[in-house]
Amino acid sequence: MHAAGNADVSECLKVVVGVAGGIAAYKAAHVVRGFKELGHDVRVVPTESALNFVGAATFEALSGNPVSTTVFDAVDEVQHVRVGQEADLVVVVPATADFMARAAHGRADDLLTATLLVATCPVVLAPAMHTEMWNHPATRDNVAILRRHGTIVLDPAHGRLTGKDTGPGRLPEPEQIVSLALAAVENPRHFRRDFEGVRFMITAGGTREAIDPVRFIGNHSSGRQGFALAEMAAQRGAQVTVVAGHTDQLPTPLGANVVKVDSTLEMAKAAHEHSKLADVCIFAAAVADFRPASTAGAKMKKGVADDALSNIQLVENPDILATTVERRKAGEIPATTTMVGFAAETGDETTTPLELAKQKIVRKGCDLLMCNDVSGGQTFGATDNVGWLLSLDGEQWDVPRGSKFSVAGSILDAVSELRQEPQPAE
Ligand code: PMT
Repeated sequence: MHAAGNADVSECLKVVVGVAGGIAAYKAAHVVRGFKELGHDVRVVPTESALNFVGAATFEALSGNPVSTTVFDAVDEVQHVRVGQEADLVVVVPATADFMARAAHGRADDLLTATLLVATCPVVLAPAMHTEMWNHPATRDNVAILRRHGTIVLDPAHGRLTGKDTGPGRLPEPEQIVSLALAAVENPRHFRRDFEGVRFMITAGGTREAIDPVRFIGNHSSGRQGFALAEMAAQRGAQVTVVAGHTDQLPTPLGANVVKVDSTLEMAKAAHEHSKLADVCIFAAAVADFRPASTAGAKMKKGVADDALSNIQLVENPDILATTVERRKAGEIPATTTMVGFAAETGDETTTPLELAKQKIVRKGCDLLMCNDVSGGQTFGATDNVGWLLSLDGEQWDVPRGSKFSVAGSILDAVSELRQEPQPAE
């Protein structure tokens, strides 16, 4: 299948993993494994120099397919054309500065660059290089050319590089590359660079309200939906700060600055600070509505005379979304800041999740609201999501079932559209 619109990535895709010659080439082996574990058919196409870092035997064993670097292997099968034409997805891990220079200028001097020239499927490059090389005007130009041609060039991670230096240029984690590449197949338009320089504040994960040093009130949020929003916004050019509660040990969202918090009060304080600087605020966290009136300093005992453990007094937490909207009304936050809420609903005997969400958007006053049905254990902790997007002025769109990255892409599309609409005069 070739992708256009929201494609289903649960069927077996033909994935080409290209590998260029950089020290991060060993991580391509984990990327191959990641695609294979999801049931996809993987063909590895390294450059000659990549084989100085990892041998062909490793890639052949992991992919179960032959490996070649040159257009002169299997000439009778015209593989320089066939491999690219048949692919549903091409991912290059790592994309080095030299490889991107060749790809940007349409070179076809090995099997990998030739494959890129014939591929009509999404092509995703995961760059890895030293910061100076990433920042060099030649590389910046090449990235711009590739993006103009429709190639998805991921922004590299910020972190420890080979040697002692630290900075942007580190290869993203293999699982991030696999998730983002599959999101590109689901909908390549979700990777357009329409948020260059736009500042986002996103809440993610679950808050925990301490009862005593070992117990807390919490929920099943994994942080996946909030982190997917952060990564997708960053890949669209945004400057993203995530205020993150508990997040199931997910890797740091690529391209985002993360502020870790524990309780709702801590999340409220951090969201308050960062929303002042944001153009878009998205509230994807699952926030505890109540907290214990006091936290015991020592582990509480059960079965003791006052039995405080079976009689915990609760007090209401601040509603972070509602108060942020109020602060916008009061002029503390610019009127142009876009506010997006979530509604996690199960519905009940009389009211559907969608009806409850329609009441919620009016109560909270945010511009957009993503309603996800969380009944029957779905959504919390899952890798996929589905639901409806609502706008404050009564519009409603279906968000089709897809990965949380695809759902994030749909939400960001709606944000982008809303921000292009003329703002009412103040
Ligand atoms: O983290 P995952 O495992 O990926 O799961 C994703 C999710 C189900 C957590 C996510 O998609 C989601 O629905 N997040 C909102 C969960 C929630 O708390 O919903 P709510 O209907 O109770 O709250 C409505 C809105 O108000 C939400 O935007 C919430 O962040 C916000 N809120 C709620 C209470 C509170 N005290 N402060 C808030 O800001």
